[in-house]
Amino acid sequence: MPEKPAMEGEVYFPSPETIAHANLKDWDETAAFARDNLEGFWEKEAEELEWFQKWDTVLDESQAPFYKWFTGAKVNIAHNAVDRHMKTFRKNKLAIIWEAEDGKSERTFSYYALQREVNRMANIIKSMGITKGDRVTIYMGRIPEIVFAMLACAKIGAIHSVVFGGFSVDALQGRIADSESKLVITSDGSMQNGKLVELKRIVDDSLRHCPTVENVIVVKRTGHDIPMEAMRDHWYHDLCALPVANGKCATEVMDAEDPLFILYTSGSTGKPKAILHTHGGYMVGTYTTLKYVFDLNDEDRFWCTADPGWITGHSYLAYGPLLNGATVFLFEGGPAYPYPNRWWQLIERFGITIFYTAPTAIRALMRFGEAWPNKHDLSSLRLLGTVGEPINPEAWKWFHRVIGKEKCPIMDTWWQTETGAFMITPTPVVPLKPGSGTRPFFGQVAEILDEEGNPVEDGAEGYLVLTRPWPSMLRTIYKDPDRYVKGYWSKYPGKYLTGDSARRDKDGYYWIIGRVDDVIKVSGHRLGTAEIESALITHEAVAESAAIGLPHEVKGQAISCFVQLKPGFAPTEKLSEDLRQHVSKHLGPIARPEEVRFIDKLPKTRSGKIMRRVLKARAQGLPEGDLSTLED
Ligand code: WTA
Repeated sequence: MPEKPAMEGEVYFPSPETIAHANLKDWDETAAFARDNLEGFWEKEAEELEWFQKWDTVLDESQAPFYKWFTGAKVNIAHNAVDRHMKTFRKNKLAIIWEAEDGKSERTFSYYALQREVNRMANIIKSMGITKGDRVTIYMGRIPEIVFAMLACAKIGAIHSVVFGGFSVDALQGRIADSESKLVITSDGSMQNGKLVELKRIVDDSLRHCPTVENVIVVKRTGHDIPMEAMRDHWYHDLCALPVANGKCATEVMDAEDPLFILYTSGSTGKPKAILHTHGGYMVGTYTTLKYVFDLNDEDRFWCTADPGWITGHSYLAYGPLLNGATVFLFEGGPAYPYPNRWWQLIERFGITIFYTAPTAIRALMRFGEAWPNKHDLSSLRLLGTVGEPINPEAWKWFHRVIGKEKCPIMDTWWQTETGAFMITPTPVVPLKPGSGTRPFFGQVAEILDEEGNPVEDGAEGYLVLTRPWPSMLRTIYKDPDRYVKGYWSKYPGKYLTGDSARRDKDGYYWIIGRVDDVIKVSGHRLGTAEIESALITHEAVAESAAIGLPHEVKGQAISCFVQLKPGFAPTEKLSEDLRQHVSKHLGPIARPEEVRFIDKLPKTRSGKIMRRVLKARAQGLPEGDLSTLED
């Protein structure tokens, strides 16, 4: 037994059982190899997957920051996530286990069945005239068809754009229009805490302003009455009955650098940006990170509670686990419906071994007390994980003790839509500190810089940047390469700006503090102030508004809005509630402000920029700081 290193602060060392079980026992050795031979490390990983044609170059930096990976290679991620497994025993292994929110239906798919479903969906999408490079918007709840749709698009080379089912008309319409999608795949509705969400009707409203959409495929989930527009709307089950749906669909041979998907996310200013990922690099990145960090084995049952509408759902619910040939559990509902033991019941019932969720859910469930999880046998669990926002040590320890029974290491994974895969993360054999994501993943280097670009001292806060390219990095912002360069590579040329602040301790462990831009993380969901403000401005009473994120015990951050009213409108309690409702209806329930406050005049700089810092301080009763740049 090697001696435990002396480390600062509270440290949880891996147990001998964890080390004995782990596929990768020596973190230092692999880290050193990847540090000295970045391309060699990733090349070795890439070789574990199947390529129709091998690459000429692993990493091409000639047009940095437009980095390219595995250039010259031909590949398709869907082939690796599905078809590749037909040659092994995994053909008959469960790929997806799904349970409905109400627990009344359960569906399972072996890898063989998954292949059949993906072929069928791909044949149908193709029959609608979709070809390589076309964009397809997918807007559904957490049902197996959302995964089939993503894989089917990938198979035929179409670029999918999944929009979270918790977004509403304005958000959906903006994303369909920007991507110029020709096809939308949706369902009649979805279930959320026992309530029906009218997905198809939201699609109908959105399509009034989206002329590019020719067809809508509708999966029947809830079975309630919905309008269907002749020629445009098609029930999926009707299409499945057509001869065209049958048989294998040819897999499109893609260049490694061909786009796989775009995913809209919020930036510091302006409209949401379409982050673009590719077939080759994204595949290698998600496959490798999941394999090492969650130590996947064939007997595992992996549950990632994220929604496919966010990057976590793309990388670690759909692609990463399937690339690894794992059994994925997909649950339609949330953590506490109908009772706060819903998740614990499912872990017991399906024998989940690896459970990956968000700090906000842990904090919410913690509040209901230990009696709920203690009703269930959670002994199948061997690894836990969190993502999306910093986890407070109290929640970490509860998760570790009450859910993990002090035997499951917690993988606190830091990453972003843009990074595609884990960037700062432990592996099971790494000593853990509650609240820290530990160290950069193999091959990555993270620095913490001051305003001028100098590294700050250990312990001091600064801008978090990544200094080495990685395969699953975003390639660009779709249709807006300038914004890509400006947003990520201009503050410190040659270094990737994450938008987060962080500090590093004496042991080289990273502690994420939070966003330094106008991104708000509400229950781990990434929202932009600009989107919220543009939803508010469409209300007749609003002259101007500013949204900020304030600390919230369960949600991490909550949205607070300051509104300047138009003349003739009075600041009433009712109007405040109307405005919250307005945002919820237009942008989505996840964006509903916690509070709306009225203000006579928004604090602005002389150049007209809203001083959110001042609003934040004011809302929390904190000192307002330097006001010398204030307009008046
Ligand atoms: C935050 C989610 C602390 C961070 C995968 C980042 C985290 C943003 C963690 C990206 C973590 C994500 N600890 N903060 N483990 N994981 N974040 O694009 O601020 O939805 O910049 O990707 O979430 O959010 P996104």
